[in-house]
Amino acid sequence: MSNSESIEQLAESANKDLAAVADEKALEAWRITYLGRKGRLTAVLRSLGEVEPEERKKIGAAANRLKAELDRALATKRSDLQQARIEQTVQAGRIDVTLPARPLTQGRLHPVTQTLREILEAFVAQGFSIIEGPEVELDYYNFEALRIPKHHPARELMDTFYIDRRDESDTKLLLRTHTSPNQIRFMEKHQPPVRVVVPGKTYRNESTDPTHEWMIFQVEVLAVDRGITMAHLKGTLFEFAKRLFGRERKIRFRCDYFPFVEPGVDMAIDCFICGGKGCRTCKNEGWIEILGAGMVHPEILSSMGYDADVYTGFAAGLGVERIAMLRYGIEDIRHFYTNDLRFLSQF
Ligand code: DAH
Repeated sequence: MSNSESIEQLAESANKDLAAVADEKALEAWRITYLGRKGRLTAVLRSLGEVEPEERKKIGAAANRLKAELDRALATKRSDLQQARIEQTVQAGRIDVTLPARPLTQGRLHPVTQTLREILEAFVAQGFSIIEGPEVELDYYNFEALRIPKHHPARELMDTFYIDRRDESDTKLLLRTHTSPNQIRFMEKHQPPVRVVVPGKTYRNESTDPTHEWMIFQVEVLAVDRGITMAHLKGTLFEFAKRLFGRERKIRFRCDYFPFVEPGVDMAIDCFICGGKGCRTCKNEGWIEILGAGMVHPEILSSMGYDADVYTGFAAGLGVERIAMLRYGIEDIRHFYTNDLRFLSQF
């Protein structure tokens, strides 16, 4: 028996059977019989190993040709059957072409993204450029260079996720706890004047609750130049606050401590809900704290090679989710990252 004959037989039988196929179910059965994993053509291809090399070449080529032919025939038949079915359905009057279409669902930007863009715009409008830095950060940039040495109490407030390194180096890698490391990264590479904002994700190893998440977005602000004073800090941040919370806002600064600034401040706005009388949003304070800031510590300027007698600067850092919560009246930060459309589609 010659195998190429059996390929011809196979072709004839496959074509004959296919012509008789009348519906999609029968077509699938046909496919399994001839082209399936245990089908007749597959069996021929499998048996090639037992054939003389020269024969094998001939039969193999013929079998592959047949396979391509049958694949094509299968596709054609499938689309013919589908077309026939549609025509039947239309003729039977089962499609009501007057039915209105289903509404298209339209996507939108996440409320945090919307807020982040507005924040950045408030600084870009004042001459700042947007830069970014790595989320996986070296201990040096996240802590050391910002005057937070090992065992400094500020580290306790910023517990994070550490990354095990396979090599033996003791340069620790971690998920950055704030965007402040980019102050250092930027000043290392650039000379003043500096005006940058740095948006990005930051991480803390903390239990979540209505006001804490283990990942939040921050925006860092940095300006360094000759003659920068606290007045520039106030003016710039005030303009930002007015843009996001209304032109009529008042601001309040109080002393605060951050190792990388001196002096350090926290900035609050008068409550835009109650106008300062006291309500739930401002927790009866009349004021809402929205960011930390300060004058860049001269030791940091010097360690970047800047002449601290000539150059001064201010820095600020703010949490984007907090700003979004205040603006939209969201009571629980965890809503942002639960991906519940009932929440997200409100913005
Ligand atoms: N990095 C601080 C934090 O995550 C926020 C901050 C405070 C940034 C004061 C600053 C600053 O640049 O001057 O809590």
